Amino acid sequence: MSTASTARVVIDLDVPGPIISRHLYGHFAEHLGRCVYDGFYVGESSGLPNQGGIRLDVVEALRALNIPNLRWPGGCFADEYHWMNGIGPRADRPGMINTNWGNVEENNHFGTHEFMALCELLGADPYVNGNVGSGTVQEMSDWVEYLTRDGDSPMVRLRKANGRDAPWKVPFWGVGNEAWGCGGNLTAEGYVELARRYATFCRDHDGNKLYRIAAGASDDDLAWTEALMKAVNTLGGGHPRDIFQAISVHYYTVPGTWLHKGSATKFEVDDYYRTMIKAQDIDRVLTGHSTVMDAYDPQRKIGLVLDEWGTWWDVEPDTNPGFLYQQNALRDALVASLHFDVFHRHAERLVMANIAQTVNVLQAMLLTDETGALVLTPTYHVFEMNKGHHDATSVPVHLVDRPAPYELDGKQLELLSVSASVKGDKALVSVTNLDPAASADVVLDLRGATVRGHSGRLLTAPKLQAHNTVADPQVVAPVALTTVVEDPRGLRLTLPPHSFATVEVDL
Ligand code: AHR
Repeated sequence: MSTASTARVVIDLDVPGPIISRHLYGHFAEHLGRCVYDGFYVGESSGLPNQGGIRLDVVEALRALNIPNLRWPGGCFADEYHWMNGIGPRADRPGMINTNWGNVEENNHFGTHEFMALCELLGADPYVNGNVGSGTVQEMSDWVEYLTRDGDSPMVRLRKANGRDAPWKVPFWGVGNEAWGCGGNLTAEGYVELARRYATFCRDHDGNKLYRIAAGASDDDLAWTEALMKAVNTLGGGHPRDIFQAISVHYYTVPGTWLHKGSATKFEVDDYYRTMIKAQDIDRVLTGHSTVMDAYDPQRKIGLVLDEWGTWWDVEPDTNPGFLYQQNALRDALVASLHFDVFHRHAERLVMANIAQTVNVLQAMLLTDETGALVLTPTYHVFEMNKGHHDATSVPVHLVDRPAPYELDGKQLELLSVSASVKGDKALVSVTNLDPAASADVVLDLRGATVRGHSGRLLTAPKLQAHNTVADPQVVAPVALTTVVEDPRGLRLTLPPHSFATVEVDL
């Protein structure tokens, strides 16, 4: 192991910043591979414990994360999904081909009622993504009425006939997805014209207030964001002319090329560095989109929603290339912890983020196998360890002394990442040591409050490639961090190489 690095981090506990919305810890479930079917939904006749076909072990594991919202049904799938095919008796529901993901038949057995039941079981807010690409304005408008209207109306009668009397609350509504690509291959201007019409007819019924999210850019496409911002009315405050409350952006950590993304578990240390450099770039990407938004909306009334993020690797050997099933190693967990530090810093403009995706697809929380076994991934543990940041107040963090950045391919990687928040009489500090070889001795110089107690948790493993399997599910799992000690300036701790830690401080 290399010599330990040293760092001093000043944290201003009495300088409140923006609230870190719990929705930054949001999730995404698409009809893609084994996310919905096998992952969330196994059907009522399954031998696995289920409620209405929804796997109860999956629900229990996700409830432990306090997942705040769930985006559904896509992704690309959203723009070929016709919701009316997913209601009524399951045996009567027409099928369709899922042309985006594996060209397999979708039987529509998991539809609107099943999704809303899942959200109720999870205690999560639904984020429904409507179909602009191949659906009609009327179809989207009817879906909103079906879900949220009370009293008596054609869609209410249909919902009641399908067994649900009371309307649901649906706070979040996506107006299409990736309209520049799978959502219709539109130009920004073309999408804006369409989306204004669709959003207009997504009505607020009976006290349900929709937060309409326009389909946004990918990566550095600031021109797309600018086109949307020109169209968004920023009068704010619920003015009837407001058509969008937020716009989205997507950013995946793909350090290789789209053709050769690399393996989730078989990689060298330089692949690791390139991954982290790519992950760290989310800061620059969010800053770019926020800066464009600031020009049109200086009061920051329009939200930025990163509704797809995470690592995207080559699929595991012998799995369907269209199913995007990948393993999840300690490296993925560090990608997640790095993203959350960035999200916390952007919490004023960034109001929601959804990792892609929750079960069995891309950077998942949970992996299941054909026997029905369930594995918690390293990424799952980062979400769990960071729960204390949900709806907490962010506080400024200054890395006054820090390890020298690592340089590769002309780019730099900061080796230490920290963020902090305060909620009531507790502060939570998240610290990631990205150095793959050296431990980090870190002084947390805590200002503006008295430390009355502390406890810490640590996530690491002997190797960056370490991951959890059915045979060995605890290879990467949190343990107590025993190196935290009091220091005249606050606390001092030592983090092993490639590790993530949380320190809870009693104030
Ligand atoms: O998350 C997988 C896919 O990635 C989504 O369907 C699409 O929106 C994005 O390209």
